[in-house]
Parts: sequence; structure tokens; C-alpha cells
Amino acid sequence: MQERTQVAIIGAGPAGLLLGHLLHLAGIESVVIEARSRPYVENRVRAGVLEHHVVDVLDQTGLGERMRREGLPHEGTQFLFGAKLHRIDFQALVGHSVMVYGQHEVVRDLIAARQAAGAPLLFDCEDVAVAGYEAGSPAVRYVRDGQAHTLDCDLIAGCDGFHGVCRPSLPPGTWRGFDRVYPFGWLGILAEAPPSSDELVYANHERGFALLSMRSPTVQRMYLQCAPDEDVEAWSDDRVWSELSRRLSGDGVTLRTGRIFQKSVTPMRSFVAEPMQCGRLFLAGDAAHIVPPTGAKGMNSAVADVLLLSRAIERWVGTGDDVGLASYSAAALRRIWKVQRFSWWMTTLFHRFDGASDFDRRVQLAELDYVVGSREAAAALAENYVGLPLS
Ligand code: APR
Ligand code: PHB
Repeated sequence: MQERTQVAIIGAGPAGLLLGHLLHLAGIESVVIEARSRPYVENRVRAGVLEHHVVDVLDQTGLGERMRREGLPHEGTQFLFGAKLHRIDFQALVGHSVMVYGQHEVVRDLIAARQAAGAPLLFDCEDVAVAGYEAGSPAVRYVRDGQAHTLDCDLIAGCDGFHGVCRPSLPPGTWRGFDRVYPFGWLGILAEAPPSSDELVYANHERGFALLSMRSPTVQRMYLQCAPDEDVEAWSDDRVWSELSRRLSGDGVTLRTGRIFQKSVTPMRSFVAEPMQCGRLFLAGDAAHIVPPTGAKGMNSAVADVLLLSRAIERWVGTGDDVGLASYSAAALRRIWKVQRFSWWMTTLFHRFDGASDFDRRVQLAELDYVVGSREAAAALAENYVGLPLS
């Protein structure tokens, strides 16, 4: 079956759904093509810290109501090392804060908005393939309910994540990847227990990193550094709580425990594809870059890409001027590499590296001591954490 739209969006994660939402508000047609089911997408638990400009775009595009009702505004965060807590006051340092609100909640709000708008959002699409984007005749092929479809379009947005089909479809020699694989991962849990702290606690401990986060007044989100291929089955609830208790021991932290209802291991990697476009195919979000979650930048950088891409598309559709589209990749990459640096830096600052010398360990602790003791250093961290300028 032959169909047509203006923009074909591959992937219904934060990038694809927000792009579809922004284009709809601009009167531009799009079709979102998603491989998974709606329940799978809506229940995929990821990070949960929104930079201030992400909060702004959700507020400004009619998606802020539930976030404002259920989200948790945070004006600062806590660093724990040497059994001492140190607060980084974002609001005082840089005049901005962040919002703790699960990524899957943002996705649910975006899906609800798409459905309410009656805009096409196709789940359970198989054998998705992109073609023609170099020749100026972009098209997306997919199978749904056993029926083969070809969607002709003016351009394709590859928002299909790190394991999608769009980036691998780029012709060899037209792009290159840059990456760093970390020698550890995170064991993440969701637990039915009130937060153990009012703010997030990032802990540098000799046994390894730990992060105390939250999702709501009754659900905690916690992480601890582990091997990249850690067997999650080897971690009973008691073992998880015991290890978190050791790594989060310090003044002012009282670990509150409860039933663990989600447990998973995430490997850690930095990756960037350059460029992020080829002809009429434009990559956004995890399809183009991934970061270790230490800086909570995954969804936030996907949103930054999409804000740039949607404005470029609107300009092109409205005036025929493709200057925004032609410069999309360069503009996006300029911010992405700063986000990559910050995510890498936060990761090196807090994690235990096997093979690190005692000297390395002292330098790591000295850097933490410097950051929490220098207003200028803390402000630099805060500026990155709450969100760098969009352009
Ligand atoms: N065809 C259609 N959809 C696909 C395909 C495909 N071949 N491959 C993957 N997808 C879908 C996935 O099922 C997912 O729903 O694309 C979507 C990509 O979403 P994300 O991986 O969430 O990527 P993005 O929207 O860029 O958001 C980045 O999400 O995964 C987190 O840590 C990541 O926080 C970051 C954020
Ligand atoms: C989370 O709440 O999932 C979270 C918060 C901060 C991070 C990473 C994850 O740096």
C-alpha cells in the first residue's frame, strides 16, 4: 500500500514523539513508525531528570500539566564522598533547577497528546527500512498486521535509538562513529519506599559508585556500579540493600528500604555518529549519540536535537529555505560534544576504575573536593547539569 506524508519519523521514543508533536503544532504532517507495542514503549523505564529547557518546551507545548502535578522540582543535588555530604545548589549558582520526572512518564504524555491530536502513530511495525533519502525521493517501507506499506515522504527523521535501522543504513564512507566503552555498568532498581533523601545523592565510594534517586514520594530509583555483564539474578534484594547501604553510608543519609519491583543492568558507553544527516535523512537522539547515564543527559540531548530539527523543518516547509536543515548536524554536534564531555567527566569523577593507582584515587577525590569547595567549579558543573544553552 502506497502512502505519503511530509515527515516520516522512525521511533516513538522521546525524540520521535516530541518531533511529531512539534511538527503537528506547526501544521506539518508526520507519521511515527514504531517497532514495539504501545505498552512496551510506555513502560520502558529510563532516567528521570529533565533539564530546565526540556521543562520549558513541555510547558510551552501543552505537555506540562501532569509533569507539574507529579514531577519533583530539584534546586540542587548532593555529592557524597569521604562519608560527607556536599550540596551543589543549582538555583543559587546558575539560576536554574531541574525536574525529576520519569522518561516513561514524558513518553506517556507525548503518546496521549499524539492520540488526542489524531496524528498517525503506528506501533508494532516490522521490517522497517529507509530508502531514497540520498536521491531526494525518501521513503519508508514497513510491514504491519501482515500488510506491506511504502510511505513516501519529503524527509525522514531517524529517531530509532542506538539499535535502530537508520544509522546503519547510512552508506559506508559517509559517516564515522566515535566511542568509548566503560569497564562497568549500573545495576538499577525501582523500590516501593519513600525517597531516602530530598535530593539526588551521587556517591563516590571505594567499593564503587552509587546513586540515590527517586520517581515519586513513594518510589525510589537507585543505582550501583557493577560489572558491565553483571548477572542481575545474582543480586537478591537483601544483597542490593546491603551494598547500597555500604556505599551510601555517610552523614545525613538514612537508607529507606522496601520491595524492589524492577531490577536491571545497563552497560555504559559513549558514542557519537558524525555527521547526523545524509540527504533527506536526519538522525536525532540515541540514533546519533549515547552517553553514560551519570549526567542524566540521554533524553535531554535527544530533546535538544529535536528542537533544532523541528525548527529547521518548519523553516524549510514554510519558506523553502533549507539553511537550517543543511546546518543541522554541525549545530547539533557542537552541543552534543559538550554533553559528551560532561557525561564522561561525571563518570570519571564518581566511578571506581579497576587498575587505578592510589595516585589516581587521590586525584579523583581532590577533584571532587575542588568542585564542592569552589563556587566557580560548582557553577560550571551546575551549568552543565541543568542544561547548556540550546544554541
Ligand atoms: N523501526 C521502528 N522503530 C524502532 C526501530 C525500527 N527498526 N528500532 C528501534 N525503534 C524504536 C524503539 O523501539 C524505541 O521506541 O525507536 C525508539 C527509540 O527510542 P529511544 O531508544 O528512547 O531513543 P530516543 O527517542 O532518542 O531517546 C533517547 O531514550 O533510551 C533512552 O537512554 C535513552 O534517555 C535516552 C532516550
Ligand atoms: C534517574 O533518576 O534515573 C537518574 C537520575 C540522575 C542520573 C541518572 C539517572 O544521573
